[in-house]
Formats: sequence, C-alpha cells, structure tokens
Amino acid sequence: MSEEKNLPTLAVLGGTGKEGPGLALRWAYAGYPVIIGSRQLERAQAAAAEINQALGDERVSGLENGEAARRADICVLTVVQAAHQAALESLKDDLQGKILVDATARVDFRDPRPPDPPSAARRSQDILGPGVKVVAAFQNVPAHILKKNLGQKLASTVLVCADDQEAGAAVMRLAEGAGMQAYFAGGLDNALVVEGLTSLLISINKYYGVKTASIGITGLPVKDAA
Ligand SMILES: NC(=O)c1ccc[n+]([C@@H]2O[C@H](COP(=O)([O-])OP(=O)(O)OC[C@H]3O[C@@H](n4cnc5c(N)ncnc54)[C@H](OP(=O)(O)O)[C@@H]3O)[C@@H](O)[C@H]2O)c1
Repeated sequence: MSEEKNLPTLAVLGGTGKEGPGLALRWAYAGYPVIIGSRQLERAQAAAAEINQALGDERVSGLENGEAARRADICVLTVVQAAHQAALESLKDDLQGKILVDATARVDFRDPRPPDPPSAARRSQDILGPGVKVVAAFQNVPAHILKKNLGQKLASTVLVCADDQEAGAAVMRLAEGAGMQAYFAGGLDNALVVEGLTSLLISINKYYGVKTASIGITGLPVKDAA
C-alpha cells in the first residue's frame, strides 16, 4: 500500500506491450505505485523508465513478472493473447492471495468474431484456483487512447465482471482512478460477452473508418463527479 494516499500497489504483468504501459501510465499519474512486469528484467526496467520520464517522477519500477506479482496488492494481466494460459500457469504461485485483473480480449483484428466460451477470465480463475480473486476488466479499452490526455476523463466504459463483488469494486476504483467510467456487469462468465464486444467495436471501427467506437451504459443514476 502507498502510505501517501493509501492506494494499493499495482503490478502490470506483461506490461511492456501496447495495453499494459498505457494503463500503468494512467495509474502512476493518478498516484498509484506501479510495477511493470516482464519476462525480462531489462525490458521491464526500460518500460518503467519511459513512464517515469513521461511523468517526471520515479513512481514506476520494473521487475520480472513473478517478483512484480509478489510485491503487488493487485495484479493486471496484459500479456499477448497467445501466452495467456502459459503465463498464468507460470505465475500461479506468485499470484496467490491477490486480485488478478484479466484484460484479455480474444479477438483477431483481421477477422473479428465472438470468442469461444468460457471467458478468458473464467479460464484464469480455473487455472489459478480459489486463492486468487480474478476480475475481468479493460478488454474494450484500446491501447492507443491511454497515453493521450492524461488527467482527463476517457470516453471508454469499463465493464467489470467478478464472482467476488468486493474485488470487483476494487477494480472499478482502479478504472475510475485511470479516468474511465466503470460498471459492475456480473460474474466472470459474463466476461465472455465483454470480450465479444471488442469484436463488435473493431467491426464498427472498420465500417466507419474510425478507431474511436466505444460503448455506453444508460438508465443508471448519474455518478457524482469525483
Ligand atoms: N492492444 C489493445 O488495444 C488492447 C485493448 C484491450 C485489451 N487488450 C488485451 O491486453 C492483452 C495485451 O495486449 P497487447 O496488445 O498489449 O499485447 P502485446 O503488446 O502483443 O504483448 C504484451 C506483452 O506480452 C508479453 N509476452 C509476449 N509473449 C509472451 C509469452 N510467451 N509469455 C509471457 N508473456 C509474453 C510481452 O512482454 P515481455 O516480452 O516483456 O515479457 C509483451 O510485451 C491482450 O490480452 C489483449 O487482448 C489489448
């Protein structure tokens, strides 16, 4: 925990790619202590240094994935889709007792279509066992919007699925901390639908020649501005 604001320490595992560094940047900007994880220490440290340089701060560090997971309160998995199962199996012991946020959206950009059940997050829970609280989130947040307009709200809605509602609430606070509107959307099996929404959004983007299609939820009481 950060003593400054009582914020949890976050580890972004596979945080050297496209999605992970953007999330890490927004959380570091919001004051969270962040660890970038990688299979290679040097890659993690280089990604962390880039974020620190952008922020003029030293809030982000880089470690190998396992060490990053052990030192964090909440871990966020952003490894490439093809490595999902192998990464979880190798990190199973390191993740025990943690919340694991799974951002995996199994979609082929060239041929977007719904993924096969069960959801990636359900697969994660099955691999990791009951000692880890898996939460699905951020599957619909495109990497390219994350590094822009720091400090401003993003026009991207985060649907949070979790079997453990308390863990889900913790991840909704993370999404809001990163400048996104977040809604609880049911248990881990519902995350299959959220992954499928990514296929819809990519198809919409292609049809209209944009990169900005997003989803919104209506019919709820308006949340107070934080
Ligand atoms: N890109 C997006 O816009 C976006 C949006 C929403 C959700 N997502 C989801 O976020 C996740 C990451 O997407 P991305 O586009 O950021 O992926 P990416 O850039 O292709 O890869 C992310 C990281 O995965 C790690 N990795 C690669 N092969 C691995 C292996 N065999 N074992 C363990 N780690 C491996 C690499 O880190 P190291 O080499 O440093 O270990 C790499 O930097 C995916 O599940 C994707 O569905 C992406």
